[in-house]
Amino acid sequence: MPSIAYLECARCGARISADLPQTVCPECTEQPAGSLFVRYDLMHLKGTKPEDVVKDERPWSGMWRYRAVLPEVEPVTLGEGWTPMLPSRRYPNTFVKDEGANPTGTFKARGLAMAVTMARHYGLHKLAVPSAGNAAGALAAYAAAAGIEAYIFMPKDVPFANYVEAVAYGAHVTLVDGLISDCGRIVAERKQKEGWFEISTLKEPFRIEGKKTMGYELLEQLGWEVPDAVFYPTGGGVGLIGMWKAFDELEEIGWIKPGKRPRMISVQSSGCAPMVKAFHEGSKASQMWQNAATIAAGLRVPKPYGDAIMLEILKASNGLALSVTDAEIVASIRDWASNEGVYLSPEGASVTAAYDKLLADGTLKPADRVVLFNTGSGLKYTEVIAEALNIHRA
Ligand SMILES: Cc1ncc(COP(=O)(O)O)c(C=O)c1O
Ligand SMILES: [Zn+2]
Repeated sequence: MPSIAYLECARCGARISADLPQTVCPECTEQPAGSLFVRYDLMHLKGTKPEDVVKDERPWSGMWRYRAVLPEVEPVTLGEGWTPMLPSRRYPNTFVKDEGANPTGTFKARGLAMAVTMARHYGLHKLAVPSAGNAAGALAAYAAAAGIEAYIFMPKDVPFANYVEAVAYGAHVTLVDGLISDCGRIVAERKQKEGWFEISTLKEPFRIEGKKTMGYELLEQLGWEVPDAVFYPTGGGVGLIGMWKAFDELEEIGWIKPGKRPRMISVQSSGCAPMVKAFHEGSKASQMWQNAATIAAGLRVPKPYGDAIMLEILKASNGLALSVTDAEIVASIRDWASNEGVYLSPEGASVTAAYDKLLADGTLKPADRVVLFNTGSGLKYTEVIAEALNIHRA
């Protein structure tokens, strides 16, 4: 396992020591301050073969099989990662990366397992987060496993499962009459007085490190062959940014060939699509989306903090951003559940619906090898999906 060389600001390039816990770049002169990326010296891995390095040995199982590229600390783990890569029954070159198999039922487990691991390592006692729902459940679970207090702020209309699980895990939960951006403001205003350490999306370095394991994993599961496209339902964008970081590291250590990257395809709901708008306008950053509303609660992020980084990745990968309607999302949930046996979250179904669109308009060919991220289980959305599909007990 590598020790961390330094944290690097995505905006001004400053190098910050990882000896003490950090949030965003303390040296940025312009606002918003840059997110910090964890940098290691990976030279010793150059020329190695993944099969000699990547091993599944408890507690270094699941996503921790990539301990060679993760911080050198004892993990707080509930079994996250190494989720199924399911080949579609209908599309020969298409796979669903089913993140619904994670503890707490979503990919948020990866980022929060890593962030809580580091929080325990640093001796932090109180963590606070604004959440669209699933990050809250994941933080609450890992905080409970680590004996750390969790302070959670989420919109009052989050899927019921998110509220129930967070309370059951013993977190301090506040329901807010507003969006995740309003929750974020409350955390920012109160954190100093309350002694909370904030682990909001892209405002601490380690959620990216957890999520980057999706990039390693999808390549290992495809025999280290880079697919043509990766579809990602985008809210705050940590997964997209994390996977791109993984591809950078993989190129650096030589486990994938330089130059060949998947097209990164960012999918949002037409009810909240700031990234799609910014992408099509050729902007460097997004603008606050007004009146954000969508069945895909995780995509209801009106102004992602990492927007500029994501836009660069979409460009660098020859990728694109597109939106689908809630009606298309609901139709895709039913389609994949009844035809493939895969119960998608609304966020995951935004991706499958977007894939249908790009196949139909010829942007992608059936021969293209494609990975579709189902970021969570449909089971976390029972009341939402029941209503959308008009399913009632007699
Ligand atoms: C199920 C699900 N998918 C996707 C997202 C968006 O993830 P990210 O913030 O990494 O873009 C979320 C965020 O809450 C989510 O819960
Ligand atoms: Zn900076």
